[in-house]
Amino acid sequence: MALRQIRELGDPCLLKVCKPVKAVNERTKILIEDLLDTMYDAEGVGLAAPQVGVLRRIAVIDAGEEYQEEPLILINPEILETAGEQKDYEGCLSVPGKVGMVTRPNYAKVRAYDADMNEFIVEGEGLLARALLHEIDHLDGNMYVEKTEGALITNEELAEILKKQQEEEES
Ligand code: NI
Repeated sequence: MALRQIRELGDPCLLKVCKPVKAVNERTKILIEDLLDTMYDAEGVGLAAPQVGVLRRIAVIDAGEEYQEEPLILINPEILETAGEQKDYEGCLSVPGKVGMVTRPNYAKVRAYDADMNEFIVEGEGLLARALLHEIDHLDGNMYVEKTEGALITNEELAEILKKQQEEEES
């Protein structure tokens, strides 16, 4: 297990357009393992290669059992289709401790290659669609903070909001 340092907002790597992967070699395989390890260690839902300073079109996602049986490894992902709309708080491991409200499509269909460079299609709704679109944004140098409505809030402030909402629902 190897953890890589996660680059934070302000790091130029996060604003670059990443290059496509032509072939998966030993270094690529180690990178994918490290992305997974680093994502799980930081308790994130997804992580893209530029977030660890590697400007290649690779990302990993684990949105949880409800959405996927196994973690998704996305090489050269491409959005084929989106539909609907969802509005929710979104966060990023490169913007630690904070979240912001982002409207995104509620459905996304993506074509990508796995770690053996086999092409596959993944479809997702809700959190999985959000994660797919968020990670593909990273590969084009786009950060979610450019899409937020209103100010970013802290995780503690979000917890307070969710607690109040729950209390209102229960009363
Ligand atoms: Ni992110």
